[in-house]
Amino acid sequence: MRRNPRYDVLFEPVRIGPVTTRNRFYQVPHASSTGHELPNIRAGLRSIRAEGGWGVVCTGYCSIHPSSDDAPHRYSRLWDDEDIRNLSVMTDAVHKHGALAGVELYYGSSNVRNIYTREISLSPSGVPINTTRGDLLLHSRAMDKSEIRALRGWQIDAAKRAKNAGFDIIYIYCGMRFGPYQFLSQHTNHRSDEYGGSIENRVRLLREMIEDTKNAVGDSCAVAVRFSTDELMGPLGMQWEDEGMAVLELVGELPDLWDLKTFGFEDSSNSRYSEEGYQEPYVVHAKKITSKPIVGVGRFTSPDSMVSQISRGVLDLIGAARPSIADPFLPNKVDTGREDEIRECIGCNICYSCFHEAVPIRCTQNPTMGEEWRRGWHPEHIDQKISNDSVLVVGAGPAGMEAARALGQRGYSVILAEMGKELGGRLLTEARLPGLSSWIRVRDWRLDQINRLPNVEIYLDSRLDENHILEFGFPRVVLATGASWSAGLADQRDVSLPIESAVNILTPDDILGGFQSSGTILVYDYDHYYMASCLAEQLAMDGLSVIYVTPADRVSSWSVFTHDQWYAQKKLLELGCQVLTGHYISAFDGDAATTECKYTAHVDAISVDHLLVVGARTPNLGLYEQLLTRSGELKDAGVDSLARIGDCDVPGAVVHAVYSGHRFAREFDEELHSYQIPAVERAQLF
Ligand SMILES: Cc1cc2nc3c(=O)[nH]c(=O)nc-3n(C[C@H](O)[C@H](O)[C@H](O)COP(=O)(O)O)c2cc1C
Ligand code: SF4
Repeated sequence: MRRNPRYDVLFEPVRIGPVTTRNRFYQVPHASSTGHELPNIRAGLRSIRAEGGWGVVCTGYCSIHPSSDDAPHRYSRLWDDEDIRNLSVMTDAVHKHGALAGVELYYGSSNVRNIYTREISLSPSGVPINTTRGDLLLHSRAMDKSEIRALRGWQIDAAKRAKNAGFDIIYIYCGMRFGPYQFLSQHTNHRSDEYGGSIENRVRLLREMIEDTKNAVGDSCAVAVRFSTDELMGPLGMQWEDEGMAVLELVGELPDLWDLKTFGFEDSSNSRYSEEGYQEPYVVHAKKITSKPIVGVGRFTSPDSMVSQISRGVLDLIGAARPSIADPFLPNKVDTGREDEIRECIGCNICYSCFHEAVPIRCTQNPTMGEEWRRGWHPEHIDQKISNDSVLVVGAGPAGMEAARALGQRGYSVILAEMGKELGGRLLTEARLPGLSSWIRVRDWRLDQINRLPNVEIYLDSRLDENHILEFGFPRVVLATGASWSAGLADQRDVSLPIESAVNILTPDDILGGFQSSGTILVYDYDHYYMASCLAEQLAMDGLSVIYVTPADRVSSWSVFTHDQWYAQKKLLELGCQVLTGHYISAFDGDAATTECKYTAHVDAISVDHLLVVGARTPNLGLYEQLLTRSGELKDAGVDSLARIGDCDVPGAVVHAVYSGHRFAREFDEELHSYQIPAVERAQLF
């Protein structure tokens, strides 16, 4: 198919100093939690973006010196010449597909603890260490002039190594209070020498680092600066309309490229609280200040939004982290007139949670992300079928749909049976919760793909029992019947919720199913992800008086990893919900709940009209168990295998369900059905 001429502008080459990118699609630096330890996994997940058409593919943050050690997170590094080979695995793989490779050189300053290297953290003014964990037990040391000179030297050495490793674009990371940003920000720079005080003084180190890097490698490599234009703390920090712009006015012409973004969790903002293009206010007008190309981000998945950014003169290059994770082939799809096949990022930030938890990146929409090298999975291709078996998939939630889609792509004849009137399962109701509308993309993309496959048949309104399955006699049957929320399961203490009366007890399934009420509702959250805070938000907006209780120390405590925790808590407080953290519910009699302080065991009674328990889920195993009771008949009926996937196997998040369905489709016909050990990284060989 041919490209829509409307998108031609996206495929224009752009000159960046001494190098030229083939188009305007730019995978900005984002960590993949592979770092130095897992060079092959890193190369796999970067090069797939190059293969998918991105013009530039960058590393995540890459430390220039052992005093910039972000353990336990995984980061790239160029500390000495030994590290060159480790990174050249990636540059070779990226170049093979015609993209430029970029490296984001970074110095952590007081944002790293150096707990692996045990070096002292160095910063402009010796402020306490402030990582995303919020711990202040360690301080950094204020740099003297010789240490500032040393830092400049480390940048130069790392830049030369980056060039030797094959990188085409070499960054100075001046954002998120890293390295030179700490000098820029009044918040962290309290110096009285020529590096402190006026903005001209505070920009001095950045100016020196750009000039040093250009002198070192600028003959053949482009030098880029990634800059957070606003610290989002008002006059206490950098503001785009004020000092942010002043920085560009002072050094705007020095680098070959500006990579602009905002700050903190607002940068990779969760879709619960932001729309595509949300960063525009923090980069707009930059092109009036500098003549150098500008790349910016904002969860861009629509080629029309991208074209609008270019034609309105906001950006020169369309930066993407998450959209390139969710669909590494996004540029190629636009290029070949298949933009309606883009697998759009849903903004859930599961990818970011992997960074925080120090495991290789994974994605809700793209189950192959991070598995390119380890399992040899490709996001667009899959092995063709090895038999003529037809497969019955029962249940069309995220696991069932992904299994049916991928099996269909393999060429198997698939029947997808769904008891409801629509495909989507849990996505249908969850995507109606406040802020989750983009989650329906998980359903929509799969539905569209399935509709293109003549060998996948959909049967709606089809509740199957064991008799149907025996009667049909499909050789392969896979159950994806989901899970149900449960009111009485154990919380973290492994104590079952002591419920004396089933009256007035609700689960998320009741609310999602349309239950309506009034009065006071107590939402008890020991799930700790989005469900309880979304429901509390919904119920408060519906006019109920909401009391949110959790044993955790904050609302939706796990969601700190997906960058929506703070906003979720803020929202509940703004809506007038009563929030009680650090408490269990230790009894409920139908009219009153007993709360128990997790620390003091102090108990209190709260009168409520309803108790909504958001805790554990149980797999929907009814059909599976019925079939097991008739296992003797399965063989005779022609059913060779029976499997469970997704929530009906193990309840989890949508990311787990999609992965489970995908993995089943890839592996169900392999002889070895038991757990297969994936390829193991051998970084230590380097
Ligand atoms: C998993 C993940 C890791 C990230 N790591 C980095 C990083 O190492 N360096 C950096 O400058 N930005 C990092 N970011 C921020 C992104 O580069 C980008 O600015 C942000 O996600 C907004 O772009 P997007 O909407 O296209 O995702 C990361 C983002 C994600 C999702
Ligand atoms: S995990 Fe979620 S936010 Fe991250 S790329 Fe995938 S869909 Fe987007």
